[in-house]
Amino acid sequence: YVVSRRQGLLQDQHVLITAGGTKEAIDPVRNLTNRSSGKMGYALAQATLAAGANVTLISTTGQQPPFGITYIPVQDARQMQAALTERYAASDVVIMAAAVADWRPTSVAQEKVKKQPGQTTWHLDLVRNPDIIAGLGAQKSHQFLVGFAAETQDLIANAEKKMAAKHVDMLVANDVSKAGVGFGADDNAVVLLRPGTPPQYIVKAPKREIATQIVTAIGRFLQANY
Ligand code: CTP
Ligand code: CA
Repeated sequence: YVVSRRQGLLQDQHVLITAGGTKEAIDPVRNLTNRSSGKMGYALAQATLAAGANVTLISTTGQQPPFGITYIPVQDARQMQAALTERYAASDVVIMAAAVADWRPTSVAQEKVKKQPGQTTWHLDLVRNPDIIAGLGAQKSHQFLVGFAAETQDLIANAEKKMAAKHVDMLVANDVSKAGVGFGADDNAVVLLRPGTPPQYIVKAPKREIATQIVTAIGRFLQANY
């Protein structure tokens, strides 16, 4: 008897995906965050699952992903970094779709910060968050590392610089200045970059279709190179 097994492009690969904007606490009732919805990360989690992968989603959105995806809820950049670091050695592909806050409040107030009578301005002191993907890039052994770049100008040039600086193997460049695509939207239009190859333009489509194309590109690259 021949037992047929479903073979996907990422069959049995361990894939770690991050999604959503990190939420950096200011005090017990306030966060510093950004406009990322997490939709691209969730679409990628579904597409990698459909490609046969063993998928872990590290997300800030509080949304339970579909059955079959391991879910790790986190809030801030340092929690996201810890969750990734713990699982990095055992992973084959890491996709950083999360919008990590570049800055966090220098300290978190223990109590809700109150307005003072007559106060009209408030200066929040911020400190740089770790660059999570750059850290993963520096420690890379066998992993295939995928980053995103959100840009409002000079998309390709800025994205190429990020790809080199962070040692990522594929970068999904996202022009977030256009209405109807990118942050918060249901659709996206991206450019896939890989070191030493010409940019691959993916036209505007629902995020689930963009995710399938990204996963296909990752899978084809891995099958050709490993
Ligand atoms: N990223 C990260 N850790 C950070 C900031 C960003 O891991 N502290 C990751 C993002 O998840 C994304 C990639 O780096 O995959 C690029 O993020 P982006 O915000 O476009 O680039 P930055 O390097 O933060 O540069 P800038 O925001 O100044 O353009
Ligand atoms: Ca940034």
